[in-house]
Amino acid sequence: ASVPVICIDGPTASGKGTLAGELAKRLGYHYLDSGALYRLTAFAARQQNFELDAAHEALIADMARKLPVRFESGNIWLAGQDVTEAIRTEAAGMDASRVSALPGVRQALLDLQRSFARLPGLVADGRDMGTVIFPQAPLKVYLTADAAQRAERRHKQLISKGIEVKISTLRADLEARDEQDKSRSAAPLKPAQDALLLDNSSLTIEASVNQVFDWWQARQ
Ligand code: C5P
Repeated sequence: ASVPVICIDGPTASGKGTLAGELAKRLGYHYLDSGALYRLTAFAARQQNFELDAAHEALIADMARKLPVRFESGNIWLAGQDVTEAIRTEAAGMDASRVSALPGVRQALLDLQRSFARLPGLVADGRDMGTVIFPQAPLKVYLTADAAQRAERRHKQLISKGIEVKISTLRADLEARDEQDKSRSAAPLKPAQDALLLDNSSLTIEASVNQVFDWWQARQ
C-alpha cells in the first residue's frame, strides 16, 4: 500500500516542527524533521573542520550519506554524542542553511528522508518536502507567520532555556536565513503548486493543528 505523507514546509520558526510533531502524534504517524538532518550534517562537517561550501561539497555529501545518527525519544545522537541542544542554536541553523545549498548534500540525504515514509503514515517538515522529496504527497501545507511573530516565538523559546538574545537580532537572523533558502538554486524554499497556505500569525498551536487535521480528514 502507498504510505500517506503530509508535508509541512515553510520559513524559519514558522512553527512547522511543533505543528508537524503534534499532528503526527494525533494521527499516530511517523515524523520527519528534515531540518535536523541538515543541522547534523553541518555540525559533523564543522567537527571535521570542513569549509561549508563548494570546496568541500563532495566530502560533506559523503558524510551526509553515512550520518551515524540515532533518533531516540526526542533526543538526537550523532556517533554516541547527544547533540539535541547543540544543533538548535541560530549559528547551527545558519550552518545548516549553508550546507543545504550544496546540491550534492541534498542528493546525499534524499534516500534517508524517503525512508521515513512508513505505514501507517508520515508527517514531514522542512523546506522542500512537497516540492522535491515527496512530490506525490496527498496533502502539502505551506506554513507562514509574519517575521515579528516568528522572532517573538523564537525569543520566548530561548528565554525559557535561559538564553538571552535581542528580538531584533533574532529577526534579522531568521530573515537572512530565509532569504538564503529562497534564493538558492537547489530546491529553493517556495510553496508547492498544490500546497495549501496557512498563516498562523494569529492562531494558537491547537488551532493550526486542528486546521491541518481537518484538511486531512476532508481528503480521506
Ligand atoms: O528547519 P530548520 O530550521 O531546522 O532547518 C535548518 C536549515 O536547513 C534551513 O534553514 C534550510 O536551509 C535547511 N533545510 C533545507 N531543506 C529542508 C529542511 C531544512 O534546506 N527540507
